[in-house]
Amino acid sequence: MMYDDIEKVLYTEEELNARIKELAKEITKDYGNEDLIMVCILRGSCIFFAELVKHIPNYVELEFITVSSYSHASTNTSGEVRLIADISKPIQGKNVMIVEDIIDTGYTLNYLKKLLLARNPKSLKVASLLDKPSRRLVECEGDYIGFNVPNEFVVGYGLDFDQRYRNFPHIGVLKKEIYTR
Ligand code: PRP
Repeated sequence: MMYDDIEKVLYTEEELNARIKELAKEITKDYGNEDLIMVCILRGSCIFFAELVKHIPNYVELEFITVSSYSHASTNTSGEVRLIADISKPIQGKNVMIVEDIIDTGYTLNYLKKLLLARNPKSLKVASLLDKPSRRLVECEGDYIGFNVPNEFVVGYGLDFDQRYRNFPHIGVLKKEIYTR
């Protein structure tokens, strides 16, 4: 069972959901009555995204984008990011928010920001559940951050190792023997 592979829980589901509600409040305050397009970065941010959008009362359109990054494969820090599936409509003149699960090296977010800014949105901001500033290789910042995490192998609440643990309901640290096997 996946629970046996977790060294410790860093943030429980309850703690995560409470923090996400705070982020939603901040976002709501900052945007006033404006409409928003929120972009879920598949797959890692799906659970954070679902929780976050529920607590924003504005008119929000949900969009999805899939990118694949090779930046944090342990031996490869080339920073190459590939667009697998784009959002479904133009964003020119709209308020757009990228919703990420984690900012690690920063390559993915950098790529996404460039990609979307080139389409001339009215505004572009970033919400990320987690931030690991100690791992940053390119300069890049989020506007709404849930938690800063230490440099440990975190999984759960959407985050995976080898496509597993996304359904672990908390953010946990993976046992070392699992990812060094
Ligand atoms: C993960 C995560 C971020 C990115 C962060 O995605 O969801 O998008 O890596 O890393 P970076 O800052 O070093 O670029 P991944 O490519 O593993 O895909 P996933 O969302 O499907 O897990």
